[in-house]
Amino acid sequence: MSVLRITGGRALRGSVRVHGAKNSVLPIFAACLVARGVTVIHNCPNIADVDAAMQILIHLGCKAERDGDTVTVDTSTMTNAEVPHSLMQEMRSSVIFLGSILGRCGEASISTPGGCELGPRPIDMHLAALRQLGAEITDNGGSLVCRANRLRGAKITLRSPSVGATENAILAACFAEGTTVISNAAREPEISDLQRYLRALGITVLGAGTPTIVVEGRLVRVDTAHRVIPDRIVAVTYLCAAAATGGEITLTDVNPAHFTTVTDALTNMGCAITRTGDSVTLSASGRLYALEPVMTEPYPGFPTDAQAGLMAACLRAQGTTSFIENIFDNRYRHADEMRRFGANIKLEGRVALVTGVKSLKAAPVKSPDLRGGAALVIAALSAEGTSEVSDIHHIDRGYDDLAGALTQLGAEIVRIDS
Ligand code: EPZ
Repeated sequence: MSVLRITGGRALRGSVRVHGAKNSVLPIFAACLVARGVTVIHNCPNIADVDAAMQILIHLGCKAERDGDTVTVDTSTMTNAEVPHSLMQEMRSSVIFLGSILGRCGEASISTPGGCELGPRPIDMHLAALRQLGAEITDNGGSLVCRANRLRGAKITLRSPSVGATENAILAACFAEGTTVISNAAREPEISDLQRYLRALGITVLGAGTPTIVVEGRLVRVDTAHRVIPDRIVAVTYLCAAAATGGEITLTDVNPAHFTTVTDALTNMGCAITRTGDSVTLSASGRLYALEPVMTEPYPGFPTDAQAGLMAACLRAQGTTSFIENIFDNRYRHADEMRRFGANIKLEGRVALVTGVKSLKAAPVKSPDLRGGAALVIAALSAEGTSEVSDIHHIDRGYDDLAGALTQLGAEIVRIDS
């Protein structure tokens, strides 16, 4: 079991490049099934979730090979339409493959993705969208069998702007005859990145980034290349770390427009933030201020994936910040672990009240999930003494060498693999 040993109390200084977006790579891997050719994907982070998605492509009979931060995918050789339980359980978001497997093969079978650390993760909106496009779906309890001789364009309205359901609907619609209109669609930048890739294949996709997306399905056989957008959540993780420890850091190869709600919050806490088209510099010194209530919302609102990291930056702020987690039912599992550092956090349902304390003390803590684990690293960096963060396999799912990046910024952090 690997751990991160962190000696806190040092201000972060320096510059670090932000790697490609996990939540963009995953749907683009699924979209490679639309291409029926070779796609060279650049800026692909070396993280466990990308490895898992490559394993799914290989299981489907495709080729997927990594060379540094480039992954080459060839889906012309696809032979299989089933994602086994073992691969589904490894990464819940594997459900993102459902629409494109169904569209490509006329059938698809997956085991129902389990709930995860964030609470139940239903996929009813995914299935409703696929049914509207003509899929027949049988839910056998632990597994789903989907069939569709022909997918036809449809007018789909999502109950809420689900990222995954939007992506699954777009991908299935690429194979549907005619036009599909998806209303109340998610507006995340990763969906715009998916649209950019599909348009490079020659598929007409319009409206990503707005609540209404239009897809004209057509058969393509295309080789292409794509560079994945920077990971906005990894970017804000580093910024929250520098806010929590003090110091000055610059992030390069980022799109600051993708995380303005978080940089606005950090500015309101007393950080000084400057930006260019592809870089952000944050400097912080002295005690930060607590914030007005922070409510997580679908993009362009405050991202739920940044909630834990910003909470870590609030642990020593002057005053009380209330967080309202509106997206997931169980996304405060990091609070218990933060209390072990001496944090003052009260939970009441969707609300977390964080009252800043003067200092935090090192403690051994366990990562509860991907973003909660990264937030514990931030808290450990701002605690006096040496802490150990365990269960870091959660962190490895979405951060490419987090310890290396923080070391580059002057943190005293060592990964101990055992
Ligand atoms: C994506 O998850 C991201 N994952 C998540 O990032 C992110 O937190 C989430 O979007 C919200 O921004 C990937 O892109 C791989 P949703 P997804 O469908 O698609 C409910 C991370 O840390 N819902 O927008 O699963 C659902 O339970 C991860 O990188 C239904 O009820 O999120 C949740 O409460 C964590 N029925 C809410 O909607 C459905 O059919 C938002 O889910 C689908 C979702």
